[in-house]
Amino acid sequence: MAEIFIDTAKIAEIKAAAAWGILDGVTTNPTLMFRAGTANRKEQTLKIVEIVQGSVSAEVISTDAAGMVAEAREILSWSEHVYVKIPAIAEGLKAMREISAWPNGRINATLIFSANQAYLVARAGASYASIFMGRLDDAGLDGIQVLQETRQIFDNYGLTCKVLAASIRSTYHVTQSLLAGADILTMPYGVLQKMISSPFTDVGLAKFLADWEKVAGK
Ligand code: G3P
Repeated sequence: MAEIFIDTAKIAEIKAAAAWGILDGVTTNPTLMFRAGTANRKEQTLKIVEIVQGSVSAEVISTDAAGMVAEAREILSWSEHVYVKIPAIAEGLKAMREISAWPNGRINATLIFSANQAYLVARAGASYASIFMGRLDDAGLDGIQVLQETRQIFDNYGLTCKVLAASIRSTYHVTQSLLAGADILTMPYGVLQKMISSPFTDVGLAKFLADWEKVAGK
């Protein structure tokens, strides 16, 4: 089964999605913290963990391996639910190699735009490879194809790194990610709402209730 994460740091959205009972985790990044209006990454992450006792990702700011490792040590100490997000750059690989050897070395490798990057982060010990589907499509590339290629490569070599479909922009991305065998999908609250919405359902429900009222209201 594919897990469903919400891609936001906004508490109201996380509470609303969690109330549906189908939320497995939350992903954040510096932009999402900015949109939530906070620079207190620890406080916000712990607030999120209180709402969702699943997987909660918080991202490093450093761009050198030593800095990423130091930040990861702190971030991973906040809660057993927290995954540290490390960018898929060469310094990130060095950091992932080191962090993944820790007993609590839970890594979400982020900003992945190719199957090559995904393969390398998996080799470096990442728990998740976050493929940025929407941004690939924005650049005129094919996000679904990168997801499919990554799935196949991980399966070819029995790599246990989970394929995480990120930067999801539409329900089309959701369906294609599920068809491609993504292990996890992270999406904005708006896309999650669209997953359960259909005007046909609304019209059908209104008709059922109206007809029931006709017979039961007699
Ligand atoms: O988790 C981060 C990723 O999903 C970014 O999405 O919409 O900023 O491309 P977006």
